[in-house]
Amino acid sequence: MKTRLSQTSGREFEIHVSEITSHDPDMIGTVLEIDLMTFSEPTWSQYTAGLMLRHGRNFILYADDMPIGTCQCIRSWQSPWEVVLFSMAIRPGWRGQGLGTYFLEATLEALKKSGTGSVVLVVDPASKAAIRLYEQKFGFKIVAECKNEYGPGHDRTHMRLLLQPNPVAEVSEFPQPAAGLVSEPTDEIVAESPQDSQLPEASPVDHTADTSVSNA
Ligand SMILES: CC(C)(COP(=O)(O)OP(=O)(O)OC[C@H]1O[C@@H](n2cnc3c(N)ncnc32)[C@H](O)[C@@H]1OP(=O)(O)O)[C@@H](O)C(=O)NCCC(=O)NCCS
Repeated sequence: MKTRLSQTSGREFEIHVSEITSHDPDMIGTVLEIDLMTFSEPTWSQYTAGLMLRHGRNFILYADDMPIGTCQCIRSWQSPWEVVLFSMAIRPGWRGQGLGTYFLEATLEALKKSGTGSVVLVVDPASKAAIRLYEQKFGFKIVAECKNEYGPGHDRTHMRLLLQPNPVAEVSEFPQPAAGLVSEPTDEIVAESPQDSQLPEASPVDHTADTSVSNA
């Protein structure tokens, strides 16, 4: 899927969306850069961005061969048929020209093609362009308005779009913790005493010297 964009300067760009399917150190830099230009706080470190590139689904919006937008998706643990659109960002200067619409359409098309039934996302209710894009243009429905979702003053709107009927079960109105993840409170704590354990006794470790551990 390709389109063209004519800027007021008269320059024309070929716009397309590609999916990154492998770990790519250069792309980590691009993801971090666009994220830092977009959000007030960083979403990613190079480690989490690298993991996302390797294990998530990552779509890049290009103007000619320049990456100008990124979108990261993960599969929901509660409902594997559902995808969490984790973040979508377009470089400032490229926004408000229909590219977000084009980018989201291409992303949803790719997700649907591979069997995704629904897409959920969380958005700052103050992000007018994002709300307009998701709700009015693509029909995402608000499933919850959460006050102080990430702490005082950080409200978030939860949205969902049904892409195709769920072959397995109905989607819940709002994601609930998966069965088995929340354990019943118990006042009985059973701890194995070191002398009962079959494990060899650990030798003392100097944690102050432990600074060379790499992130995953
Ligand atoms: C959200 C974002 C990806 C949308 O991309 P975009 O290229 O600006 O989107 P479009 O130009 O296709 O515009 C989509 C709709 O929003 C409207 N819109 C754009 N900017 C707007 C603004 N500041 N206020 C209100 N509506 C706005 C457009 O008019 C359009 O609706 P219309 O076609 O009915 O007129 C982009 O603005 C962005 O990166 N924003 C910062 C990051 C963000 O908020 N991400 C989403 C949360 S994860």
